[in-house]
Amino acid sequence: MAKSNKSFICQNCGNQHSKWQGQCHVCKEWNTIEEEIIEVQSSSNWKTLSENFISTPKNPISINKISLSKEYRLATNNFELDRVLGGGLIPGSVTLLGGEPGIGKSTLLLQISLCINTSVLYISGEESENQIKLRGNRLDGLNEKCFILNETQTQKIFKQILKIKPSLVIIDSIQTLFSEKIPNTPGSVSQIKGCSAELISFAKESSIPLILVGHITKEGSIAGPKVLEHMVDTVLQFEGDTNFAYRIIRSKKNRFGSTNEIGIFEMFNTGLKTVKNPSKLLLSNLDISLSGHAIAASIEGVRPLMIEVQALVSSAVYGTPQRSSTGFNSKRLNMILAILEKRAGFKLASKDVFLNITGGLNIEDPSIDLAVVCSILSSYHDIPLPRNICFAAEIGLSGELRSIPQLERRIGEAEKLGFKSLLTTEVDILNNEFNSIKIIQLNKLEDLISYLFS
Ligand code: TYD
Ligand code: MG
Repeated sequence: MAKSNKSFICQNCGNQHSKWQGQCHVCKEWNTIEEEIIEVQSSSNWKTLSENFISTPKNPISINKISLSKEYRLATNNFELDRVLGGGLIPGSVTLLGGEPGIGKSTLLLQISLCINTSVLYISGEESENQIKLRGNRLDGLNEKCFILNETQTQKIFKQILKIKPSLVIIDSIQTLFSEKIPNTPGSVSQIKGCSAELISFAKESSIPLILVGHITKEGSIAGPKVLEHMVDTVLQFEGDTNFAYRIIRSKKNRFGSTNEIGIFEMFNTGLKTVKNPSKLLLSNLDISLSGHAIAASIEGVRPLMIEVQALVSSAVYGTPQRSSTGFNSKRLNMILAILEKRAGFKLASKDVFLNITGGLNIEDPSIDLAVVCSILSSYHDIPLPRNICFAAEIGLSGELRSIPQLERRIGEAEKLGFKSLLTTEVDILNNEFNSIKIIQLNKLEDLISYLFS
């Protein structure tokens, strides 16, 4: 028998409160607390539907006796996604794909369903079969065994899965699902928790891999309880500016692979295409040098990427100068401006500073600090930097250039793209020889300024 209780749950962070209140004291959001009925289920739901997948009680087995077949991972046939997953989907694994609305989650998953060499059940609670077919017409691939189902009730979904017995199940999205055993509305914390628990237990026992789409909150985290991210095996984040064509898929958690890999895609009218040479695409094709442009030899995940940083420094019209940055942490920009003011004597307090990372990417690698500094100084002095130089170093609070990891891979990428010099901090002897690129090693901000602008 199910026992029911009422509780007040924050719809933003999932925290439970004993009474209603205007603000959640955990996540500080207003008007997010709603009353929900908490049901304690006596047994897992899907098991009651069929005997097929119910395994006999399990006995412990020695780890040495567990044998894995060669083709243990199910390849999605999407090169970038397989790379981020660590080679493909593990049987019985649950992958959560989060991202902003319109970023391309449904497009990517439908593309996989159409390109994979096995049977897929694509369950959508958001779009009708016709709408999915219309989208599918624009994409490549024709998988005869791609089944589409428009359903939101978990019990009915399990019935269909047991009937079709697909090798992969995709659910778009977890927020639209509801279980009839839970009396709250779809998208509420207890529905998300309950439905995911049912789906995860199903995936583990049936060994069918599952991909769930998760909506995100305005802060960028996956909507619903944080526990959802703990429960699943892999959390992938789809990022990018919807106004630009580039999209990055990043792994935030991966029980079966590295979290350092990223996948880069470009959105076309025929769906998402993988980007083979991202560095080349992200650099503008201008031959002339313009002030305020600097190129960073960055690493995203384990991939070297050449990134163009653009800065505009102009006199502030109002008392408080404006600082705006796109694709770069604004707190870090303020820190760099303070370092330039204190350590190098630039009067930036009376200047507006705008910073932009081209391509709509959001860069977290601190090694682009040096390119940010150089683009700001170039715009401040209105002196263009040579197009064939790139930068890679972190800036310390005393204005020192700090070393960064994987320097040789950055140099290699810069050399491949025809850069003539790379400016970085003093490094120990490099293992590889680089013949066509000069490594300029400087220690302090003062040395950098005299090297580039005097
Ligand atoms: P969608 O995949 O529905 O995003 P999500 O599921 O993450 O909300 O939509 C992605 C966007 O991409 C949509 O605004 C339209 C656009 N798009 C293309 O540019 N080309 C295409 O081939 C498709 C299918 C969509
Ligand atoms: Mg969608």
